[in-house]
Amino acid sequence: MSDFYERVGGEKFFADLSSQFYSHVVMDPILLPMYPDNDLKGAAQRLKMFLEQYWGGPTTYQNSRGHPRLRMRHARFHIDVAARDAWLGAMNKAVQGMDMDEALRVQLWSYLEMAADAMVNQPD
Ligand code: HEM
Repeated sequence: MSDFYERVGGEKFFADLSSQFYSHVVMDPILLPMYPDNDLKGAAQRLKMFLEQYWGGPTTYQNSRGHPRLRMRHARFHIDVAARDAWLGAMNKAVQGMDMDEALRVQLWSYLEMAADAMVNQPD
């Protein structure tokens, strides 16, 4: 994982991925109401910084936001299986749209699926 950040193209890759993801969020009836409507740019920036840090890039996320503790940070949102699937649907379109090595795409996607599963906080 240590060279993943460089291999996908560094900051530009994560900026593009996050902005593509949010271009799908704004079209999604489950997701859009969950996000701060006056700060989608900020949300995209937070996701970008987190993913950069996770994949071996700069630790700007931690420096500005503190320890990720993502499950805790998502506790105030109602995340059921439908919301997880909507999130993954938006993210899948973003990931599929990236020009990248296929082995790295598989690696990225399996992490995102696992992480999204872990964020579910409502029983079905
Ligand atoms: C499973 C469905 C998910 C839903 C419905 C969801 C929803 C949200 C919402 C509504 C926010 C607040 C936006 C903001 O102002 O930052 C947020 C923040 C965030 N989400 Fe998610 N999320 C999900 C999964 C994930 C996953 C899988 C990751 C990471 C791989 C992730 C990473 C983040 C990060 C880094 C933030 C910003 C946290 C902060 O620093 O405050 N989310 N999410």
